[in-house]
Amino acid sequence: MAVLPPGASRLLARVQPVAAAPGTLLPVGVEVWHLDLNACADLQSEARDLLDDADRRAADRFTRPASRIRQQLTHAALRCLLARHLGTQPGLLRFQVGPHGKPELDPKRDLRFSLSHSGTDALVALAWGREVGVDLERIRPRRSLEQLAMTCFSPVELAAWLAVPAADRLRGFYRFWACKEALIKAWALGLAAGLQRFDVALAPQTAPQLARADVPAAPPGDWVLRELQGPAGYAAALAVQQLGSP
Ligand SMILES: CC(C)(COP(=O)(O)OP(=O)(O)OC[C@H]1O[C@@H](n2cnc3c(N)ncnc32)[C@H](O)[C@@H]1OP(=O)(O)O)[C@@H](O)C(=O)NCCC(=O)NCCS
Repeated sequence: MAVLPPGASRLLARVQPVAAAPGTLLPVGVEVWHLDLNACADLQSEARDLLDDADRRAADRFTRPASRIRQQLTHAALRCLLARHLGTQPGLLRFQVGPHGKPELDPKRDLRFSLSHSGTDALVALAWGREVGVDLERIRPRRSLEQLAMTCFSPVELAAWLAVPAADRLRGFYRFWACKEALIKAWALGLAAGLQRFDVALAPQTAPQLARADVPAAPPGDWVLRELQGPAGYAAALAVQQLGSP
């Protein structure tokens, strides 16, 4: 097992495990980690040292310093979490990008990952032997919420969301959104999946479900959805392929 550099150990000491929403558990072999970027501001230069040249070039493309720092910290944390599992050094990991933009390890390994950043926070999900997607969304008021919902949600989801009491509708919007994004990220399709081509069902006291999927390019299999206990003021969700799926 490789000894991680001190910067990696310091960064790993700041990431916090994330649990599934009350009443549910994370699937076996899946981890989700939370990074509060404000709480890691002092580790900026150490984080940069943990990246490779490609990551540093990608970070330097951000003109806003806050975005650059967020990118560096998130990718350094991702590298440290992966390296800890794979018994290697964070800076030695290499990535390639799929046709719709999802990064994966190069060469491909059984350890899969997904990351999401929003506001001042980020999540990293790791899963052994199955595809994974995670999404984090800071809950903030939007002017034309109904209009946005009509473009993002399927008719069935839209009807379910409109039935949510007005006081819960903003949060409800982001809960649907996070579940849908977690799925399209697990499928590695991004928006190419077609947001209207599948239905997420959200009900009180139970884990969300993928109720319908007509997404030809999605990997086959059953998909497990979980809402996550992310940071306060955010909605967060995880999608993973059921073990043993084709
Ligand atoms: C990637 C995508 C799925 C999500 O992007 P996002 O919500 O802006 O950003 P997130 O922080 O959650 O995720 C970005 C990360 O996902 C990963 N990613 C990029 N493309 C991806 C893809 N096709 N599949 C899975 N993961 C992808 C990358 O790691 C990226 O981070 P990085 O650039 O730092 O490496 C993108 O397709 C998108 O723009 N979605 C639009 C959002 C939308 O309209 N959603 C409506 C849902 S109801």
